[in-house]
Amino acid sequence: MNKRADFTQSLEQSAFWMPFTSNRQFKKAPRLLARAEGMYYWTPEGRQILDACAGLWCVNAGHCRPKIVEAIQKQAAEMDFAPTFQMGHPIAFEFADRLAEIAPQGFKRVFFTNSGSESVDSALKIALAYHRARGEPQRFRLIGRERGYHGVNFGGISVGGLSHNRKHFGPGVAGVDHIRHTHDISRNAYSRGTPANGVELADDLERLCALHDASTIAAVIVEPVAGSAGVLIPPKGYLERLREICTKHGILLIYDEVITGFGRLGKPFGSQKVGVMPDLFTTAKGMTNGAVPMGGVFVRDSIYEAFMQGPDGIELFHGYTYSGHPLACAAGIATLDTYQEEGLLERATSLEKHWEDAIHSLKGLPNVIDIRNCGLMGAIEFSPKPGAPGSRGYNALVKCFEAGVLTRYTADTLAFSPPLIVEKNQIDQIFETVGRVLKTLD
Ligand SMILES: Cc1ncc(COP(=O)(O)O)c(C=O)c1O
Repeated sequence: MNKRADFTQSLEQSAFWMPFTSNRQFKKAPRLLARAEGMYYWTPEGRQILDACAGLWCVNAGHCRPKIVEAIQKQAAEMDFAPTFQMGHPIAFEFADRLAEIAPQGFKRVFFTNSGSESVDSALKIALAYHRARGEPQRFRLIGRERGYHGVNFGGISVGGLSHNRKHFGPGVAGVDHIRHTHDISRNAYSRGTPANGVELADDLERLCALHDASTIAAVIVEPVAGSAGVLIPPKGYLERLREICTKHGILLIYDEVITGFGRLGKPFGSQKVGVMPDLFTTAKGMTNGAVPMGGVFVRDSIYEAFMQGPDGIELFHGYTYSGHPLACAAGIATLDTYQEEGLLERATSLEKHWEDAIHSLKGLPNVIDIRNCGLMGAIEFSPKPGAPGSRGYNALVKCFEAGVLTRYTADTLAFSPPLIVEKNQIDQIFETVGRVLKTLD
């Protein structure tokens, strides 16, 4: 046992207020990770855990990849920090240009942030400022979708549609409304890939256009595939319809690609997989393979250009001390090198069928009411235990961890998103283990 393992004895008094965690439960029975490499974590006691979640949907190239590790070490020794407000450093420009090379056509500008939440709030602010810059300041409304997850800052929880993340924190940003979510087990249970039913749900945006007057709406934000709410895949034709309505009314469409970016769906970005383009999109997580916090907002060239009119001066009064941090940019460039050398941004496509068959093989196990998949994302939903909703999801997570597989849960849904280096035998191992656990689940 290494020295760091000793403190597990006394976690109940630890100063660490853990995020999105049941602190008291966890500190009584911790699940600790001490080391990682490739597809695996190891606990402080040396137990190997197969990572079926890419950490938290972010370690797309697998853990502790040497090129990324070396790049961070080298950059930390060469220049630890440099400002990007009215100053610059070459590596930030280099990384932005590298990102523009893999972005969809017409998205050649990226604004750096430090997280998905910051990307979301930055994108919402850019959308509002864009309309103002081009003489439509009355467009102040922001539209989200029920069950959407857009991080935890005030903009993100306001447009977000997860009740627990909203209800404790007051009224949020003014002028926000939501369209209906697309999750419909009664019609689409056990869909393989894109569900067939529900295109008409996109018309809900027309309802809000009529209610608020479309000329007051600045932007609509959705995840191309919702991740944190439990892998909710939009039905066939839905994103096309949403795009049409936005274009018709001059509303910006923002994709939150914090999870779907960087190869998760088999293309560099989710928009390229679904074939429907947004006007802005947010990223984070896989941008640096999770190794250094970083995010970015990509915008259409025309949006950037709208800010570049008028006399010289600061065009956007927005930015973070750590926007374009040297360590993050170094990690990002090495991450892109790794993705590209190993074909990881497309690899989900070749594994998708195997992944789909493996996860759907769990149909029929006790309490399972839906299984869904898209790219290298998947979810298994359980019927809620009477009187204890969410407990089956939590217990499944704990038991999977005890059985050597790291998963994620939201309420009664278990979610999966392995590093994109996953091999077929590891996919089989994930779902064989989960299958065994589900047979024991109360
Ligand atoms: C779609 C989406 N947006 C935003 C976020 C927030 O990202 P972060 O936790 O880096 O702030 C997440 C995180 O899971 C996400 O899935």
